[in-house]
Amino acid sequence: MRPFAIACRVLVALCAPIVASDSAAQDTTIRLEGDGRLGPAADEHRGASAAYGYEGSPLSVVPAMIELAGITRGDVVFEPGCGDARVLIAAMQAGASTGLGVDIDPDLAEVAYAAVKKAGLADRIEIRWGNALGVDMSNSTVVFLFMGEAFNLILRPLLWRQLPVGARVVSNDFAMGGWKPDRTVRAETPGRTYTLYLWTITQAVKDEVAP
Ligand SMILES: C[S@@+](CC[C@H](N)C(=O)[O-])C[C@H]1O[C@@H](n2cnc3c(N)ncnc32)[C@H](O)[C@@H]1O
Repeated sequence: MRPFAIACRVLVALCAPIVASDSAAQDTTIRLEGDGRLGPAADEHRGASAAYGYEGSPLSVVPAMIELAGITRGDVVFEPGCGDARVLIAAMQAGASTGLGVDIDPDLAEVAYAAVKKAGLADRIEIRWGNALGVDMSNSTVVFLFMGEAFNLILRPLLWRQLPVGARVVSNDFAMGGWKPDRTVRAETPGRTYTLYLWTITQAVKDEVAP
């Protein structure tokens, strides 16, 4: 298993109590604003990008993720574990309306915020620091993931419950257990082949988690 997948599993174990009850899930993330520097509360969590499992989707793979999602004008994009926000920025450049990126690594959240500002997209992309599993995504029409299958499996019922019918979920390289994708695409890079997955939220999957 790749190191970042292992790290994601550790994180997911740590995060599990937060989603033990969906209704109890709480968004305790912090929005980056102004100069984009997080306060002292972030300091004890810094310098641990390797442990948090950062690996950016290769820039050569990002266009295939955007195309698979079928980004259109008006899309509202959510990216749990947004890293440096390269996928969110590409989604906005492809015509999406707004985006929300959340990363548990404060250093990366700051990098993402700086990248968003540099791209002139601070009015359309919000970056937050914290655990993405507590964030309400019910207004999202597209979700991008590159998180590890264990994380995906924790997120899956939240996607089904919260996302509107017709929303698309694109995951780089990690499946969703028995949830059959609508499409898969292989993206080749010199060192590795990535499998991209697309799912669409239907009424049937929502009914599976209906109370
Ligand atoms: C493999 S990287 C993917 C980065 C980005 N999505 C991309 O495709 O370029 C996974 C990211 O998820 C973040 N992460 C891991 N667990 C998280 C959680 N529970 N909430 C928010 N971010 C998390 C890590 O810090 C890391 O930046």
